[in-house]
Amino acid sequence: MHRSTILPISLLLASSSALVLPRQAQSVATTAGGAPPNGTAPLNISPSAIADFSGVNFLENMESAFFLEGLQNLTKWNTKHQHDHAIDVVTRVQAQELIHVQTAENILKANNAPTFAPCRYTFPVSNSDEFFALANIITTVGIGAVINVVSGLAVTDPTIVQGPASILAIEARHDAFFRHHSVSDIPNPAPFDTRISSTYALNLAAPFIVKDSCAAPSFPVIPALKAQVTGKTTGSSGAITFSFDATAVSEEDLSKALYIGWVNQANKVNYQPATVDAGVVKSTIPEGMAGIAFAALTAQNAAEDVNALTGVTIAGPAPVQIS
Ligand SMILES: *[C@@H]1O[C@H](CO)[C@@H](O)[C@H](O)[C@H]1NC(C)=O
Ligand SMILES: *[C@@H]1O[C@H](CO)[C@@H](O)[C@H](O)[C@H]1NC(C)=O
Repeated sequence: MHRSTILPISLLLASSSALVLPRQAQSVATTAGGAPPNGTAPLNISPSAIADFSGVNFLENMESAFFLEGLQNLTKWNTKHQHDHAIDVVTRVQAQELIHVQTAENILKANNAPTFAPCRYTFPVSNSDEFFALANIITTVGIGAVINVVSGLAVTDPTIVQGPASILAIEARHDAFFRHHSVSDIPNPAPFDTRISSTYALNLAAPFIVKDSCAAPSFPVIPALKAQVTGKTTGSSGAITFSFDATAVSEEDLSKALYIGWVNQANKVNYQPATVDAGVVKSTIPEGMAGIAFAALTAQNAAEDVNALTGVTIAGPAPVQIS
């Protein structure tokens, strides 16, 4: 009796879900080379782990949207089949970012925390060179943010470090590809990648997000700082100029002794004196940096790591490609 009533319903559920969700999910997983971890999601994670996975959800949404749009563009720009290989790679990158989104969302949902729907985005890209260059910056920012996630979880939630650590290695492979297509054919410019704070990562993502198009994790907004550099610097050392919106910064902050704090690899922040005039900053690139560095305008030279520097950043950070 039960059978005859229950069976049609379960069949209906099975067939409708088979037609819609699992098939779509399966094709993303097939393209990505795998699905989210199929063990039980970790429960009772700490509030800072919730904040970390919220940030991952939010940033990976942006990455997957960026790569989806880039993929459509590369396909359009592929007039002489010159992008065949890149299209193959970016197809996987985009699917893998979606799997990372699903992984973060599974953890948030299991812990009754809100997930983040994608925003509308606007990316300043008009050709394949600009796409590869921005892909390099976006993946580097993602790597820096996930290093911070791993470092934080190691203290608060050590049993769940493995997922983000596994994501980190894949993001680094993505970045090696985009570096090759933009900055250099050397995938390994330095022995360490550079950690950034979640506040830095969210501020760097902000210009690409259409205002009020989505819910975002809350974060302190810092005025942007832009390096006046086209492509790479001429290596480490030498003069550098930055700009920022002077009306967004208090006179009082600017009346103090100012520095550019340089964040690179796993080193203490390196401070170089800076002069500021009408939103133009002149400073020096310190010696001994490689890969990408993040530069911040600040009125102190004591904060030793990027999280301490974040709290006292007047404008920034600016990604600066050193090598
Ligand atoms: C998880 O994935 C592995 C490998 O793909 C598979 O053998 C296993 O059955 C899956 N476990 C569950 C609970 O789905
Ligand atoms: C894709 O191309 C459009 C039209 O040129 C452009 O506005 C957009 O920024 C591009 N996006 C990416 C990610 O390449």
